Amino acid sequence: MPTYQLNVNGKVHSVEASDNTPLLWVLRDELNMVGTKFGCGIAQCGACTVHLEGNAVRSCSLPVSTVGEKKITTIEGLSEDGSHPVQEAWKEIDVPQCGYCQAGQIMTATAFLAKNPNPSDEEIKDAMHGNICRCATYNRIHKAVSTAAK
Ligand code: FES
Repeated sequence: MPTYQLNVNGKVHSVEASDNTPLLWVLRDELNMVGTKFGCGIAQCGACTVHLEGNAVRSCSLPVSTVGEKKITTIEGLSEDGSHPVQEAWKEIDVPQCGYCQAGQIMTATAFLAKNPNPSDEEIKDAMHGNICRCATYNRIHKAVSTAAK
């Protein structure tokens, strides 16, 4: 199996994996970064969202062989202690119900707000609509993104 040097959360990790192994499984099974979740496995739900060079991507559908030297950020790398402004807003609004999708929601929100720090309600809806929450915490998610943007 080939070896890949992956830059995850500011540190280079050497991992062995077959070319088409999704990044999600490398993160979870090889690097033990289990904050990133598996939902659908077909790029439809957003539970597996991480950042690649600051862009939100679905790691369940991203072969590890395509990552190269690009910087990966997972929920574990967003802040040392959960104090990223988006995480603070999530706590303030008390967003999660079961919690399963929330890391992916937060990774989508942080990538979005980094590019659009002052979004309209419509822009927030557009940015977040592809991340599914089966507890339907959508109103609180919207409010938290809006709060973090202030
Ligand atoms: Fe990747 Fe659903 S698990 S989008």
